[in-house]
Amino acid sequence: MARLIKNNVQWVGKVDWELRMFHGNELSTHYGSNYNAYLVQEQKTVLIDTVWKPFAAEFIRELSNTIDIKKIDAVVIQHAEIDHSGALEELMAIIPNVPIYCTPNGVKSIKGHFHKDWNFKTVRTGDVLDVGNGKQLKFIEAAMLHWPDTMFTYLTGDNILFSNDAFGQHMATDLVWADCVDPCILWEEDMKYYANIIAPWGKSVDAKIKEITAMNLPIDMILTSHGACWRGADVLKAITKYAAWANAYKENRIAIVYDTIWGGTRIMADEIAKGIRLADPLVVVNVMNLSLSDKNDVATEVFRCKAVLVGSPSHNKCALSSVGAFLEEMRGLAFKGKKTAAFGCYGWSGEAQKRLNNTLAEIGFEVVDEGITNLWEPDDAAIAKCQAYGQAFVGKIK
Ligand code: FEO
Repeated sequence: MARLIKNNVQWVGKVDWELRMFHGNELSTHYGSNYNAYLVQEQKTVLIDTVWKPFAAEFIRELSNTIDIKKIDAVVIQHAEIDHSGALEELMAIIPNVPIYCTPNGVKSIKGHFHKDWNFKTVRTGDVLDVGNGKQLKFIEAAMLHWPDTMFTYLTGDNILFSNDAFGQHMATDLVWADCVDPCILWEEDMKYYANIIAPWGKSVDAKIKEITAMNLPIDMILTSHGACWRGADVLKAITKYAAWANAYKENRIAIVYDTIWGGTRIMADEIAKGIRLADPLVVVNVMNLSLSDKNDVATEVFRCKAVLVGSPSHNKCALSSVGAFLEEMRGLAFKGKKTAAFGCYGWSGEAQKRLNNTLAEIGFEVVDEGITNLWEPDDAAIAKCQAYGQAFVGKIK
């Protein structure tokens, strides 16, 4: 059901209350998500983005209840992943000759997904589409926020920035606005979304914020493609958060992430945590078993932390597969400014910690020491050693 945003702008997206995994099984979405699409009806009628493919029929049905689809003059596809372009085939079956405005990379991406040669109009930063009544849609390329094809669109007169994936959250809401939803869930999901989707492209985020600031565009609203949208004071708050997150973000937190076979490495994790607490009464410490924790929640926690200790027993001369997967995730997310070291038990020859430290250094974390290992199950002496290690680690990450 369409929702009024401002003047002649309406929300025409889909609220997906039941989504729990996204991007295949790569991203957990504990609170569902929205696929936000928008309709601008000035002298020209322009549709900005669509919804995820499974909801294409519902999208077309709802859109038909809002307007005569044949009266759409232009479609803007800001990014071609199918959570936004997924209804294009059904839409273009009704309006096959209507122009699709997108970046040059957008053409490649749309063709790659749909194998159709629609009426593409490629746009670059600074290009405009006059929609009548004195208003224009201005296009702003936003490559790597978070795909090469991504762009933003700015509606003059109403001062609305359509930001596609940037500034979104995976959180289902039919209340539209960030100031209408639970702020605890909103900001938790906003950070999780940044950490797990946008973080690898922090340099692009930083540059784009500076570029848009230099444009001096008045922005009254940011209309995202996922979750709640920002208006009023929340606009600056959302941008300020991204500016901070894009620059080696860290809080006074330490994560201890590990996996264990018979519990020895778990004991080490807990005892190192106690040592950290003895050395610093204020630092937030979270101990997370990688096999029992949501990997995206772990990634978000690491994103917030100034340091992460990574633990695994040696198993078949390697770390456990859950720890290997975690490191691969960290490699991709490319968090900056994290200090680290490895720990874990072994019974035979103890290869895992060296491998972990090497990988951690390779992915850009600062390895502060060689970590700590323990032969067989930790006894009282080993427990004391782990606590002492935790205490000393605090001194090394200052
Ligand atoms: Fe929401 Fe990159 O798709």
